[in-house]
Amino acid sequence: MASIAIELPHHRYDVVIEAGGLERLGETVRAVAPHRECALFSDGAIADSLGVRARDALERAGYRVALGRLEPGEEHKTLETVRDLYDLLLGTRLERRAPVIALGGGVTGDTVGFAAATYLRGVPFVQCPTTLLAMVDSSVGGKVGVNVPQGKNLVGAFHQPVVVVIDPLVLGTLPVRELRCGLAECIKHAAIRDASLLDLIERDRAPLLSCVPDVLTELVRRNVAIKAAVVMADERESGVRAHLNFGHTFAHAIETTVGYGELLHGEAVALGMIAASALARRLGMCGGEVPVRLREVIAAVGLPTSAELPSDERLLAAMSLDKKVAGGRLRFVLPERLGSVVVRDDVAAGDVSAAWSEIRA
Ligand code: GLY
Repeated sequence: MASIAIELPHHRYDVVIEAGGLERLGETVRAVAPHRECALFSDGAIADSLGVRARDALERAGYRVALGRLEPGEEHKTLETVRDLYDLLLGTRLERRAPVIALGGGVTGDTVGFAAATYLRGVPFVQCPTTLLAMVDSSVGGKVGVNVPQGKNLVGAFHQPVVVVIDPLVLGTLPVRELRCGLAECIKHAAIRDASLLDLIERDRAPLLSCVPDVLTELVRRNVAIKAAVVMADERESGVRAHLNFGHTFAHAIETTVGYGELLHGEAVALGMIAASALARRLGMCGGEVPVRLREVIAAVGLPTSAELPSDERLLAAMSLDKKVAGGRLRFVLPERLGSVVVRDDVAAGDVSAAWSEIRA
């Protein structure tokens, strides 16, 4: 078992990474949020499998469990879904100290986390991520929220969990497309902080995609360590946490315009990283080897390197609604070399269009 501590100015919690950790979920939650009751919200696609195991584990630890399920998919990461979660929490009169547990991927964690952040002005929240993407990125660091028709994650909060429980063995039940999406966020971590991780992902892609437990666990541990360090340095994204948005200014515009569900978030991020690194190359910030290497590793793990995209005008309009816009200027996280990025807000629209053309099918 590995446990990575997240030490923040007003809060501390552990990310527990343990093969078989789902069976010990109840004990782990009880250690940080003891109560008679809890609420467990599962992604509907896994509610009858992992959801039942999680409920049993919570009951074994003495919790009375209020159960809810979320419709799977990014299109359900909405205020309407949050309203349904409030109804369940209010219907069971869940008390202020009772934990709310999210079991699922990033959509589930973000949506349930937003309900937990706002129900009774905030209740203890537990992340139990079941996708690689959620394990290495969205479950750690307290960002919760929903999409609105205008764009991704435009309504949300920072609400740190009381514990994150990661059981890499559950990834064996995941569609390979979802695993690839998780690898996109791992490639992002490599690109912003640790170039050696790129080599590892490329070398170990076969055991990773066939879910060899030790290889996956080590990948998760290394990536959570990177995410933890960034979040500890800058909890509220006033500085280096923005580096985690590498590829995301492009990705969010893709997701908003192409439509949620067509491309999964990790696929959009993969495309976004190629576009961002091409933009950095065009601006003379990095050598040509950076976009080449990123594209190579992205392709090696089976992520897309191009897609049918709407017009530049529509993409630029979507970008301008992104919450990373500051003072009316688009903000891009761009590589200087593999393992190091900077934030730029002085990029001309023509250069952005040229970057889009790098990933347009
Ligand atoms: N996923 C980006 C962040 O947590 O800041």
